[in-house]
Amino acid sequence: MTQRIPATLIPGDGIGPEIVDATLAVLDALGAPFDWEHQVAGLAGVKAAGDPLPQAALDSIRRTRLALKGPLETPSGGGYRSSNVRLREEFKLYANLRPARTIVPGGRFDKIDLVVVRENLEGLYIGHEHYVEIDGDPHAVAMATGINTRAGCRRILEYAFEHAIATGRKKVTIVHKANIMKALTGIFLETGLELHEQKYKGRIAVDSVIVDACAMKLVLNPWQFDVLVTTNLFGDILSDLVSGLIGGLGMAPGANIGADAAIFEAVHGSAPDIAGKDMANPSALLLAAAMMLEHVQRGDLAARLRQAIDDTLNVDQVRTGDLGGSAGTAAFTRALVQRVRNG
Ligand code: NAI
Repeated sequence: MTQRIPATLIPGDGIGPEIVDATLAVLDALGAPFDWEHQVAGLAGVKAAGDPLPQAALDSIRRTRLALKGPLETPSGGGYRSSNVRLREEFKLYANLRPARTIVPGGRFDKIDLVVVRENLEGLYIGHEHYVEIDGDPHAVAMATGINTRAGCRRILEYAFEHAIATGRKKVTIVHKANIMKALTGIFLETGLELHEQKYKGRIAVDSVIVDACAMKLVLNPWQFDVLVTTNLFGDILSDLVSGLIGGLGMAPGANIGADAAIFEAVHGSAPDIAGKDMANPSALLLAAAMMLEHVQRGDLAARLRQAIDDTLNVDQVRTGDLGGSAGTAAFTRALVQRVRNG
């Protein structure tokens, strides 16, 4: 009998429940071995338990060390702190792996196959921010502190080099802004080059690029890149850019990997503009589920899932609106389940 694997499931907000339902239907058809512990967080957590990150959800992930989650809404400006950021901190999920591979050909860019490895715990995301009041204006000055540590840089850079080698990649590009933020991102570049010299020279190529130039190069000639490794904020921005090269956020999965747990999700947010309208593309979360299957050594099921997604999109030509198709979330899911059953 297949070994069952306990895992936490958080549907999330906005389109979250729709794409999570779709993903569960497909995983079920695939015979994925997960035993789900259903939990809530984000806005749904506030409504159900008065907390965007309820203790029960944390306890569940601490037990299972494995989660699939929908997007969690975070208010902009004021309001509660991002539950996503808190989850990463709580479980020390230091590596955010965001692969982008063309599945639907014929878009603006073809044959894209890139990975963004984003540092997930440090930099400008640590939330050390405050305002200074001047002349009665409480928001006269806004300040933020970023922190990058040698150990934190080394850990994520090591992860990127190891991942690149293990997956047969050719080159790791260190993305930074060390010309302006000489300390904050200089330490990242310096640590990366040192680490390569000490441990990875001759095993994999390395180069470096300043983040603004990187954005331009990604749009002009994305094929020059292979694995991009960078600090938290740059990684967040560049991974959305890279998802645009492969048809948009509906196609971009992500994994948050750490010492204490692994949490799989789509790169995109809760998409409130299309929530509840049967318009969301569940592919990003489905591809995240494929990464989760690989993580638990079920590469066989991950390969079947990816093939079924590919066939549904390209052979059956069933696509959601973001990819120029006319299928709703439910119709796309039905077609995909059919593919999985026949595959
Ligand atoms: P978003 O990623 O939710 O949406 C950006 C645009 O992409 C929207 O036009 C949306 O309709 C479209 N889109 C996103 N996912 C799609 C899908 N699967 N299929 C089709 N179209 C899709 O970004 P936005 O609007 O800036 O953020 C909304 C909320 O999500 C915010 O509260 C934000 O904090 C949160 N968020 C949560 C994340 C997470 O839980 N990991 C990540 C990013 C944002």
